[in-house]
Amino acid sequence: MATKILLCITFFVLLIDAGVEKASAFDFLSNLRGSHKGDTIEGISILKKYLQDIGYIKSDPSNTNITTNIFDDLLESALETYQSYYGLNVTGFLDDNTMSLLSQPRCGVPDFPEERTDYSFFPGKPKWWTYNLTFAFAQGTRLDAINPVLQALEDWASVSPFRFSVKIFDEANFKINFQPFYGPHQPLAVGFEPTNGSFHFNVHEKWVNGKVPGGFDIESVALHEIGHLLGLEHSKDFHAIMYAYFWPNTVKLTLQPDDIQGLKVLYGF
Ligand SMILES: *[C@@H]1O[C@H](CO)[C@@H](O)[C@H](O)[C@H]1NC(C)=O
Ligand SMILES: *[C@@H]1O[C@H](CO)[C@@H](O)[C@H](O)[C@H]1NC(C)=O
Ligand SMILES: *[C@@H]1O[C@H](CO)[C@@H](O)[C@H](O)[C@H]1NC(C)=O
Ligand SMILES: *[C@@H]1O[C@H](CO)[C@@H](O)[C@H](O)[C@H]1NC(C)=O
Repeated sequence: MATKILLCITFFVLLIDAGVEKASAFDFLSNLRGSHKGDTIEGISILKKYLQDIGYIKSDPSNTNITTNIFDDLLESALETYQSYYGLNVTGFLDDNTMSLLSQPRCGVPDFPEERTDYSFFPGKPKWWTYNLTFAFAQGTRLDAINPVLQALEDWASVSPFRFSVKIFDEANFKINFQPFYGPHQPLAVGFEPTNGSFHFNVHEKWVNGKVPGGFDIESVALHEIGHLLGLEHSKDFHAIMYAYFWPNTVKLTLQPDDIQGLKVLYGF
């Protein structure tokens, strides 16, 4: 299947920088609190596009409803799937708990809500042909990202047959960089499915090592994105490293049984 990408989405959000809250990519949501099927409100088409980007509305060119500001069956059913996936009450409208999760920063890779297990895979279950993989950082990568990413690679190696070694950028299986993302949906980071190997941190986030108010821990996010590079998609398990949402001022550094089981099922080790 052609790389059906996954350039995802996400949003960033409260970028708390020097104590100043910048405009949020989720501003459109604030209009929509409490809205239901039948409402017509500015911003609904943006919400539909966002739900499509994160995997809750199929990309179908004949689906013209995606561009309207009408809260229609399409949106109601996408919200119900989202609510069910994340263990929220399935209300089909924009209740407070749904609003609050929707406006969190998350990984840019879409969810795969059709899966029955917690862990999931990319469509077609792409995977690597070898357990010996190579990685490289783009020239100029911030130095405080190197050790956390190496540690994250080591964590995956410690629970699997994968072994990672460094190679020149153009020839490496995993290519790691910091780069800007554009548009209203700014993912925190994105890692592509095998055998693409690209891993981008959003250069505009506040990246830190450890728990820092308003900052995102590099190692925690690296652990998650490397899971994508190895072929894992998002997990419904809130504790799993492959859960799509991240919170600032948080570290999440331990691969969970759900993450490891997903990789075992994919590769059969
Ligand atoms: C598409 O929009 C039309 C017109 O608003 C509506 O009647 C129809 O139910 C919508 N379809 C879906 C799947 O929401
Ligand atoms: C679900 O709804 C009940 C009753 O309104 C409420 O007490 C509970 O907090 C809700 N749970 C979630 C996860 O939204
Ligand atoms: C994998 O790499 C190790 C050393 O890094 C090497 O000893 C081994 O032969 C390699 N295996 C394959 C299948 O290339
Ligand atoms: C990975 O996929 C993205 C999106 O299709 C593409 O822009 C990028 O060049 C790919 N990277 C590699 C190394 O193939």
